[in-house]
Amino acid sequence: MPLALGKDVLNKARREGYAVPSFNTNNLEITQAILETAEALRAPVFIQVSDGARKYAGLENLANLVRDMASRVSVPVVLHLDHGADYKMVLQALRAGFTSVMIDASHHPFEENVHETKKCVEAAHAVGVSVEAELGRLQGIEDNIVVEAKDAFLTDPDEAARFVEETGIDYLAIAIGTSHGAYKGKGRPYIDHARLEQIAQKVSIPLVLHGSSGVPQWLKDKMKATGADLGDPTGIHDEDVRRAIPNGIAKINIDTDLRLAFTAGIREVVMGNPKEFDPRKILGKGREYLKQVIREKFELMGTVGRA
Ligand code: G3H
Ligand code: 13P
Ligand code: ZN
Repeated sequence: MPLALGKDVLNKARREGYAVPSFNTNNLEITQAILETAEALRAPVFIQVSDGARKYAGLENLANLVRDMASRVSVPVVLHLDHGADYKMVLQALRAGFTSVMIDASHHPFEENVHETKKCVEAAHAVGVSVEAELGRLQGIEDNIVVEAKDAFLTDPDEAARFVEETGIDYLAIAIGTSHGAYKGKGRPYIDHARLEQIAQKVSIPLVLHGSSGVPQWLKDKMKATGADLGDPTGIHDEDVRRAIPNGIAKINIDTDLRLAFTAGIREVVMGNPKEFDPRKILGKGREYLKQVIREKFELMGTVGRA
């Protein structure tokens, strides 16, 4: 199928009470794992390209790869720009054929965030592309940060309503306690569900959760078994993800879990077979574990059978 439009996929998800995972890609194997699993489970999906991915593989290369491969699957696939840094980056993505873009001006003061976001909305909507923007800031929130300081980073429900109204965005990324990476705080990472409920009451467009990897035990075990030294990583609990979906979270970003899965497979072959030097055998195992973790995400988010 041709690429799907972000807002069509997410409006349906919020309306019907499930979420769509947005997976980061960097290469052929990750893209294959995402698309083959989505097709097998009849699940809509977002594939997103970060700044790091753009520098590693090239924006056009990844856009062409995803678009071409998506044309041969029969489920909706949205090609999304993850954390677009500025207007120029958003224009580049529009030219490359993305069907969804994120402008992340969340580190600027409110009015500047509105100004930058509005400019991107005008450009994207002129060519029919959907826009995500962020309000609030994701942090590595630790147990010893006092409550007021924690709150300062999190999305304010009234500001969220104003931001959506003033910018005309299609979906809103919010900060409710998650952070990027494999170390999301000690014990059970802090998620402000009460705040999410308040935001969902005031904002009717789909909400987006970043930093949503779970760092599953089976992947930690595989990494450890092959000698990886990761310390004590912690992700978002499945139960917290499940609880967030009925409160408007319709797009859930996952990168770290894919990195762990791909690397675990590669390590297993390399460490266990010192004579192996066929990259297809090595990367192939990584792709197999990717498919397994991607399947778990679709099942967790209620996306299976929605296409
Ligand atoms: O949001 C961050 C993603 O994990 C992508 O990170 O720019 O290193 O690819 P990256
Ligand atoms: P994780 O690092 O938790 O996978 O989050 C990815 C993300 O938010 C990309 O935008
Ligand atoms: Zn993110």
